[in-house]
Parts: sequence; structure tokens; C-alpha cells
Amino acid sequence: MRVPMSLDRPEAAAPGLSSISGRSFLTTALRFSPQLRQGLLVTGLLALLAGGGRIVAPLTIQQAIDSGLAPHTVAPAVTVGAIAVLVAGASSLLLNRRLQEKVESALAGLRRDGLRRVHDMAASTADRVPSADLVSRLTSDVDQVTTFLQGGGIQFVTNAAQLLIAGVIMSVFSWQLAVPVLLLSALLISTMMLMQRVIARRYAQARRDLSRLQSVVAESVAGAPVIRSTGTAARTARKLDDAVDQARDSLLRTLVPLHGNTALGEVTIGVMTVTVLLGGVWFSLAGDPAQPRLSSGEVVAMIFLVTFFVRPLQFLVQSLGEAQNALTGWRRSLELVATPSEAVTDGSALPPGPLGVRVTQVSARYGSGPLVLHALSVEIEPGEHVAVVGRTGSGKSTFAKLLTRRVVPSAGTICVGGVALDRIASLAGRVVIVPQDPFLFDGTIADNINLGTPHTAVSQGNAAGASPSGSSRDGVERIVDELGLSDWLAGLPDGLDTQVGLRGERLSVGERQLVALARTALADPDLVIFDEATSGVDPATDVAVQKALAVLTRGRTTIAIAHRMITAETADRVLVFDGGRIVQSGHHSALAARPGRYAALIDAWRNQ
Ligand SMILES: Nc1ncnc2c1ncn2[C@@H]1O[C@H](COP(=O)(O)OP(=O)(O)OP(=O)(O)O)[C@@H](O)[C@H]1O
Ligand SMILES: [Mg+2]
Repeated sequence: MRVPMSLDRPEAAAPGLSSISGRSFLTTALRFSPQLRQGLLVTGLLALLAGGGRIVAPLTIQQAIDSGLAPHTVAPAVTVGAIAVLVAGASSLLLNRRLQEKVESALAGLRRDGLRRVHDMAASTADRVPSADLVSRLTSDVDQVTTFLQGGGIQFVTNAAQLLIAGVIMSVFSWQLAVPVLLLSALLISTMMLMQRVIARRYAQARRDLSRLQSVVAESVAGAPVIRSTGTAARTARKLDDAVDQARDSLLRTLVPLHGNTALGEVTIGVMTVTVLLGGVWFSLAGDPAQPRLSSGEVVAMIFLVTFFVRPLQFLVQSLGEAQNALTGWRRSLELVATPSEAVTDGSALPPGPLGVRVTQVSARYGSGPLVLHALSVEIEPGEHVAVVGRTGSGKSTFAKLLTRRVVPSAGTICVGGVALDRIASLAGRVVIVPQDPFLFDGTIADNINLGTPHTAVSQGNAAGASPSGSSRDGVERIVDELGLSDWLAGLPDGLDTQVGLRGERLSVGERQLVALARTALADPDLVIFDEATSGVDPATDVAVQKALAVLTRGRTTIAIAHRMITAETADRVLVFDGGRIVQSGHHSALAARPGRYAALIDAWRNQ
């Protein structure tokens, strides 16, 4: 029983990603998966052998009957038939393996290239496409193709070949009998397509109800303590019962058209068989008995051919939904791979030493939204320590993202180290941002600090079996010591070898920043942008952060987005942002002494 998941129109490509229309799908697929192109002729030949070989059986029967069932003619006919069936079986096996291998290797390539593209796509694209969407294009979308293939979809090709060959042979035997068969088939196809649409609609509803059921279950499991404490178990149970009933009902509703479709195919085969039988008999009786227009062998063969024609037809129509799902999945992953890379391949290198920054008349926006930075101009000297302050939403983080190419200016120019930012080959290791909530990988603190050299495991007794690199471990320990993080680490259960959990969830935001600061210090960049955590930092961690920051900033240009007064106080210069503009600039003591935005901010900090 084949179930279409959806026959909906494919949705538009996500903004920023390449869009691939139905027409350009094949050319794009062949361009990005060249392995599909190789040996296409052999694939086609195998398909014809696999599809055609099955049809030899009715032809053998026809030969046997028309030769009067004489043993000396039946025996060779049966031998030929048997060989053909064997060849068909072997071809089908080879074809399936070949298709599966080719498609799976194409999909593996798509996953690999897709992941690479995620890393080198334009920052503006990466910002506009939700990360969940990117992930699904590399996982579940690709899986849909595999699911289709493994669910029997690979026989699509064999069935199409069989359909074609059966149709041709029927027409050759007797086009007069083939016509009613084709007409009835057209009727069958259109009715089945209509039913498939109904099934798809009902399935879409069933999937919605199932996902609702899932969220109700998830909520009542996660919220169990609240449900217990508020005594709302009965209400939750009712909600759960409703969701279960609804999912069951909507699944049942899909069964009627589904079975209807199967039954329709059977009825059509019956009607066609009777039509061919009666028509064939009438036809052979109608002409000159000495020279019948259709031999009895041909009539019998036609009856068999009807089944050989309608079965693949049924299969093709019923798997249309799944095929479309698989194509949609394939198209979505292709869209990711076909998105042009934004890596600068012929760019200039940055000069050595601390890097200055010159921002001239720079404006910025997200997507097609309003401007969030307005004609910003500022110059930061090499080695200068700048603090950026301002109310929430004033554009501080956007400014930081501009300097690291996470956001592309909509107007104006930015130079780092005297080189236009968009012409710099690579910022890696030279310009580093420590975000408000740094991303940590599942692993130990040492591994996360040592990200700069990803191939060496630095945890002691690393389970992966990689030999802990002494020098990397020493480097990590030295950095930790220099940044004054030893006390903090001593308080953790396993020190540097403490597991941080997925995304670093076992550490607080402040602690994640400490790890990121150590990671940055080890990378030894020349321009550091530090986005101070806004919340969740306890005083002790805050002190550790400030201490580490003081060490890290030595000898480098630093831009610290400050949410605490101490960060601004210790900077060479404070830039005050307001509504996407720099409204004040100067040393903390000078700015604090006169009324204005900064003075107001200090009041707010003091009253916290
Ligand atoms: N990814 C985004 N998409 C659309 N708009 C955004 C995005 N990120 C920020 N903005 C908008 O840009 C403006 C500036 O945001 P930004 O994050 O730069 O502020 P901020 O000064 O860093 O604030 P905070 O102190 O809260 O971190 C805000 O109006 C915000 O809503
Ligand atoms: Mg911010």
C-alpha cells in the first residue's frame, strides 16, 4: 500500500538561497551530481531488460498456444521465456543496485557540499535563512529521497519501462483492442489522481494532527511538575485524549480513498480483461476463419498484457506523491548547494600587527527591513581599546557583526588594517568576535578552548583514542593561567576536562564567555570584538571575565560592547550608540562629567 505524503505545490525557495524551478531541476541535479550522468546508457538498457523481460511470459504463452501446444515448439518457447525471466530478474537487481548506489553517492555529495556552503555562504543569507531550515535541507530533505528509494520507489524506472513495452506490444498485436485498454487506463489515471489528491489532503491533516499530538505529549511530559503542583492532571489527560482521538480519526479518514484507489485498479483490470476477452473472441470469429485477425494465442497474451500494463500504471500513480516528496527534498538540498559561495578567493592579506578600523558613512539593515545603523563614521587606531555602549536595540551588536562580515553594509565602506573589508581574503584568526552567548561544542572545556587547532584532542584520556597533544594541552593550560582562570577551573568537577554538554548548556552564560575568551586568547587575534553578556553573570564570574578581558586586550585592538560600567571605565574611548547613530565619543571621565546619553546611562548603571 503506497501512501502519498503530499501533492501540495512545492514552496518557494528560502530568501537568499538559489531557487530551482521544476524545469531547471534536472540540469541542476546533473551539474551538481555528475555521477548521475555516468553510464546513463547502461542504466537505460538495464531498465528495458528488466521491464521487458517480465513481458516475455505472455509472449511465450502466445507462441506455445499458436503452435498448437506441440511439445517440440513449446519446449524452446518455454526455454526462451525462462531465460528472459532470469535476465529480467538479474537486470532488475543490477539496475536497483546501480540506481541506489548512484543516487546515494549523489546525496552524500549534496550533504558534504551543502555543509561547506553553509560555512561559506554570505552572512546576510545565513542570517535570513533560519538555521533549522538549513539543517533540514541537509538531513530530513535528503532522507526523503532515500526513504522513497527504499520504500520501493527505485522500481519506478523498471515499472515505467514495463508500462511502455506492454503498451507497444499490445498495440502491435491489435490496436483495435489496445484502444479500449488505453481509454480505460486514461479514465483510471484521472480518477486515481483525483483520489490521490484527496488522500494527500487528508494525510496533510493527519500529519498536522499527529504533530499536535506530539506537542501535547511533549508539553505534558516536560510540564509534569507544574501539572502535579497545580492539580491539573485531569485537564491535561482530557487534552491528550482529544489529541489522540483526533489523530486516530484523521488517519482513518485517509484509508477510505486509499483502499478505494487499490480497489479501483482491480476493478479496471477486471473490466479490461473482460473487454479484451470478448473483443478478442469476437475479433477472431469475425474475419475469415482460415485467417483469423487475432490468433487464440494472441488473445490470451493480450489478456495477460492487460495486467502487465495496468499494474505498473497503478504503481506509478500511487507512488507519485512520494516521488514528488522525494523530488521536493532533493530540490531543497540542491538549492542550498547551488547558492553561490561568498568566500573571497582572490582577496588581499591583512598586514601584521594590531589592526585599525575605519568606518565611513556605513548604513546597515537586516534583509529588507528598516535601517538599523545610519551613516556611521568612526576611526579606531591600531591597539586602541574602545567600549561601545547604548540602550538595548541601539545597534551595538549590528556594528560588531559589520566588522566581522556577518552583516553586509547597505552603504558606506569599512577598512580593517587599511584593507577594504570585502576584499580581505580571510579574517580567521585575525579578527575574532566573542559573542554575547558563545557557542560551545559538546566536549570538554579544553577541547573548546583549543578550537583553533581542531584536529588535536586535548582532553586527557580522550575517549576517541586520539593521542592528547602535549603542546596543545600545554598551550591551553598556559592561556588559562595567563587569563587568571585557574581558580574558576579548580572549582569545576573535572577542571579543564569538564564536559560542557550540548552547546555548552552545562555552563552558565558567563562561564561560556570565559571559555570563549580563552579560545580567543589562544587564537591570538589582532582585533577582538567582545559582546558582553547582558544577563546571567554572577559577580564572581563577572570579575573573572573582566580580569581575563584585561589580559586579552593587551597589545591588541579591542572593541568591547559594554553592559557594565567597569568595561567602559577601563576603555581608552567610549562610543555611545543611540538609535543606530554614534551620539557621543570620548573618555569615560570626560563623558561622565557632562550631561547627555552617557551620563544618563551611568545613572542607570549606578542604580541597578
Ligand atoms: N537578525 C536580525 N533581523 C532583523 N532585525 C534585527 C536582527 N538583529 C537585530 N535586529 C534589529 O536591529 C536593531 C539593532 O539590534 P542590535 O542587536 O544591534 O542591538 P544592540 O544594541 O546589540 O542591543 P542589545 O543591547 O540588546 O544587545 C534592533 O532594532 C533589532 O531589532
Ligand atoms: Mg547586542
